[in-house]
Amino acid sequence: MDNRPIGFFDSGLGGLTCIPYLMKALPKERIIYFGDTARTPYGSKAPSTIRLFSMQIADFLVKENVKMIVIACNTVSSTCLTELQQKYPAIPIVGIIEPTAEVVASTCFDEDQIGIIGTKVTIKSKAYEDLIHKRNAKLNLYTTPCPTFVPLIEEGIIQNEIMDLSIRYYLDHFISYNKINTLVLGCTHYPLIRRNLEKIYPGLRIIDPSEEIIQNITTQLKRYKLLSEEPIFDNTFYASDLSENFVNMINRIFENSEFKVAFKSFDLDTYK
Ligand code: DGL
Repeated sequence: MDNRPIGFFDSGLGGLTCIPYLMKALPKERIIYFGDTARTPYGSKAPSTIRLFSMQIADFLVKENVKMIVIACNTVSSTCLTELQQKYPAIPIVGIIEPTAEVVASTCFDEDQIGIIGTKVTIKSKAYEDLIHKRNAKLNLYTTPCPTFVPLIEEGIIQNEIMDLSIRYYLDHFISYNKINTLVLGCTHYPLIRRNLEKIYPGLRIIDPSEEIIQNITTQLKRYKLLSEEPIFDNTFYASDLSENFVNMINRIFENSEFKVAFKSFDLDTYK
């Protein structure tokens, strides 16, 4: 048993989409979340840059004495999960792509037409295809990057016609041409536009990695005997740029819960 917090990180707001699922499944766990809002988006940056930023954040979380690190970001998971695990062998580090690949492989059929959307870096890495096909090589997978989604979401442009136009621009042809019936949201920001997707493409099955990762977190906490024994409601949300949008989004997620939230600004100068 271990009452230390779990460290979550993402390039910005996206990883927050995992938190409600975690609160439901593991209500005694305490969270330290880091959103790199000053340097988002990661998804169009060079892998070397993403690696550097991720190492800096992991160093910070380790200094905060977390018991586990959850990479609530597909872009980071597809770029440097193994390097992070090698750098910190004493801490379980959980990526978001493997648990989702597991769900796709175990719940989809050979006749399904499966679309995977994500950032440019995630799609280029082919991490989803590799991990899904390792489990079932017969599944039909189609991928496409959607690079404007993250900047629009970070800007709070969500239930909005600009977002809907952007969705149609990237996905109308992709979905109809490939006859997609299942869509994997390969970026933790995308659950925030799930309602738009459901409205524009009714009937599409949507797979959300932010939900699928929770089972994996639970398994690892049990395996290493790291589950918390008692609820501690203080949770800290760090941002490298503590924007109004970031604060509002977190307050909205926790407005009707006992969950206590503190905001802190993270000084990027620490790493100069
Ligand atoms: N939420 C991140 C992901 O899952 C977004 C990456 C970005 O900043 O572009 O990939």
